[in-house]
Amino acid sequence: MTARSVSRRSLFALGGAAAIVTAGVGLPWGEDAQTKSASKLADKRMPRPYAQAFRRPPVLAPRTVTTGADGAPLRTYSLTERAGTAEIAPGISTPVYGYNGSLPGPTVSLDAGTRSMLRVRNQLPAVHPSLGHDFHTSTHLHGSASKPQYDGYASDITPPGYYKDYYYPNFQAARTLWYHDHGVHYTAQNAYSGLAAQYHLHDEAERALLPQDEYDVPLTLSDVMFAADGALAYDDNSHSGLWGDVILVNGVPWPVMKVKRRVYRFRVLNASISRSYRPQLSTGDPLTVVATDGGLIPVAQQVLNYRHGNAERYEILIDFRRYKPGQRVELRNLSNDNNRDYDHTGKIMAFDVTDEPILDTSRNTIPTLLVSSPVMALTAAQAKRTRKLRVERGNGEWQINGKTWRDVVDSGYQMVLANPDYNDVEIWEIENKSGGWFHPVHIHLVDFQILSRNGKAPFAWEKGPKDVVYVGENEAVRLIMRFEHQRGKYMIHCHNLPHEDHDMMQQFSVGLAAGAPDPDDPINADPCRPDALGPDA
Ligand code: C2O
Ligand code: CU
Repeated sequence: MTARSVSRRSLFALGGAAAIVTAGVGLPWGEDAQTKSASKLADKRMPRPYAQAFRRPPVLAPRTVTTGADGAPLRTYSLTERAGTAEIAPGISTPVYGYNGSLPGPTVSLDAGTRSMLRVRNQLPAVHPSLGHDFHTSTHLHGSASKPQYDGYASDITPPGYYKDYYYPNFQAARTLWYHDHGVHYTAQNAYSGLAAQYHLHDEAERALLPQDEYDVPLTLSDVMFAADGALAYDDNSHSGLWGDVILVNGVPWPVMKVKRRVYRFRVLNASISRSYRPQLSTGDPLTVVATDGGLIPVAQQVLNYRHGNAERYEILIDFRRYKPGQRVELRNLSNDNNRDYDHTGKIMAFDVTDEPILDTSRNTIPTLLVSSPVMALTAAQAKRTRKLRVERGNGEWQINGKTWRDVVDSGYQMVLANPDYNDVEIWEIENKSGGWFHPVHIHLVDFQILSRNGKAPFAWEKGPKDVVYVGENEAVRLIMRFEHQRGKYMIHCHNLPHEDHDMMQQFSVGLAAGAPDPDDPINADPCRPDALGPDA
């Protein structure tokens, strides 16, 4: 038995000896798994799997739809970060702190080529009521080549009572992005408390190939644990990670979705702050991966299960034509090493197949050939240089090449891990020499291609444009990317958010000579402002 298959029930049944062996083998934080139960809420009040209906987050309506000075369409949106409540456990009102007060926030959906401005107003309490930190925020649109001052730079913070307008170019190919908090040192708590949501960019290529509208379904996965009073509890095991015992899909615990007998597209986002997943259908049928973080992959990939790290997005097709009305199909979680699992974390959600009529029968097939992209066409021969990055533990902190965000701050935000010229192609090799933890590493600004994993081909499901790479236990990955679209300073960090906050984050600069003035300085070029806007701005 490994740590990932430990449940409270099985530990109880096996007794102490087995538990001690398990703790010694699998748990890097050196605690006894038996003493760990995630939620403190009374058992009878806990949510149960497959007891609540599936829900889609609302789509955010733009405030204005106009044409910008450059002639391109422009949409403006406004969001307020504020306290709200969610009924996650039946009959219990749980405080959340999210965009417009909900967990997750509303979905933004628009066409590539339409620019957007997202106004984010921080009306959160000055201090997080249960976790006690200053409630400053910074909003990152993950997957967008935004300018540095609109990229959610961790130290470009917006305190309560202030707002910031974020401008997004949206010129990239269709993809599933997400926006989430990135405030320095409290990103984990803030994303966990609700500050996360999907953002969809559409285009012609994706519209021609993949299911749309009713059959294009966001699935934002997260996990939580409850305190005795029904609030969300937070325990990151000395910054190793937080593993809740309740799996949420769009904020609903283990929901059940009614589906028709046709092909559906699911945009699966792992918004858990630490947990990774390995989704699998209960029927043993394959999932078809059609898009990764940066959009469509060249060739659809059929997989029986796949490893899904934090912040990664996989778009998968499920073909419900093969099932009978009345049949229940479960989406399960096989888990991965160095997660902490509980009685029901092996389940994600269920689909109940109905015989309801299908009105839209277009794109009701499983495609094979999709669309390539410039990043998937890059070859190693184009690279100007190769850089090596180690993700590691040192001096009680999570580090990249022995350095942390603290070192960046102490340098007056000058220290960079790399400084490619504009348009340079580079190979970055990232290595994790530990067997005790995994690191999903995110590089801002770019899409990259995974050239190899431990010297072999990448997994089938990651043969598409990526911006997060799962650097698993004792793994080394080679990535290739072109530094284009914007100049300036961008972050790179682990997306296990307690690791990011403590303090596995650094920055690189693109097309900037060391010490040269930076017109797009991420902190000073366009900072937040006091919010005297009135209720409807
Ligand atoms: Cu999704 Cu720098 O983050
Ligand atoms: Cu990490």
